[in-house]
Amino acid sequence: MADTDDIQQAKYYHHDVPQQNRAFYLKGAGALDWGMQNRFARVFRPDTGRTVMLAIDHGYFLGPTTGLERVDVDIVPLLGHVDALFCTRGILRSVIPSAPAVPVVLRASGGPSILRDLSDEEIAVDVEDALRLNACGVGVQVFVGGPNETKSVHNMTRLVDAGLRYGLPVLGVTAVGKDMVRDARYFRLATRIAAELGAQMVKTYYVEDGFETVTASCPVPIVMAGGKKLPELEALTMAYRAIQQGAAGVDMGRNIFQSEAPLAMLRAVNAVVHEDLPPRQALELFETLRHGAAGSDGA
Ligand code: 5RP
Repeated sequence: MADTDDIQQAKYYHHDVPQQNRAFYLKGAGALDWGMQNRFARVFRPDTGRTVMLAIDHGYFLGPTTGLERVDVDIVPLLGHVDALFCTRGILRSVIPSAPAVPVVLRASGGPSILRDLSDEEIAVDVEDALRLNACGVGVQVFVGGPNETKSVHNMTRLVDAGLRYGLPVLGVTAVGKDMVRDARYFRLATRIAAELGAQMVKTYYVEDGFETVTASCPVPIVMAGGKKLPELEALTMAYRAIQQGAAGVDMGRNIFQSEAPLAMLRAVNAVVHEDLPPRQALELFETLRHGAAGSDGA
């Protein structure tokens, strides 16, 4: 308890300085509770309002896919260069060190493997466990237009309700079935549905034509998923365009961890996202880091 002897009279009231109500810097997040904003602030850098999230959750339906065979060996060394990690609680508890701390968004839906109908997911994490893991958010797949559309949207809305009780944001992930058209019209529909039904952030794929209409019509931050492995210049170009067209960051997986030089690629993506570095310069940075000692992947 504070010492009660010689208590000084309070006098520094700064009458001439009005208390400011600071607007929160993320789109659509101004009315969220303090705890939710604080979790957002650990994922989206306050100086840029953007994030480089590394997605390594693929094993939840794919098993040990290329680049993620040994997360402890190949991914842990990258963590100092990510703003947030998107992963399952199994990988988190088994191989991700708790210190130094990396902000985590937990994959919170799952069930079917690659051998079955992927849209047939359930909620796979209790919100209390996400809090126990000090997660900054939970991610759940929504299959708009898919055979389990309503169930997957209901998974999301249940997590939104639970998250609102504790200040835990939900990332709605727009999943696209094999037979569905990946165009701006579809992603406008899917991202808007996710946001309207409560997701505080949304992950979606980039489309060449009209991506800016997807980001403009979604009232919460959008992060771009990377998709299948592309040549580095193409992946950097896609990330650059997504950011310039309104994305608040990326949640990329294969284009980073399946690169021949994941650390160099991650640093190049960082420059694209946080410094608006154009793709050709980002590729030069990638090549320099890849061949130089400082940014090499231990080669
Ligand atoms: C899979 C996911 C992945 O996290 C997402 O696809 C990002 O990874 P990639 O950049 O490899 O596509 O949500 O359901």
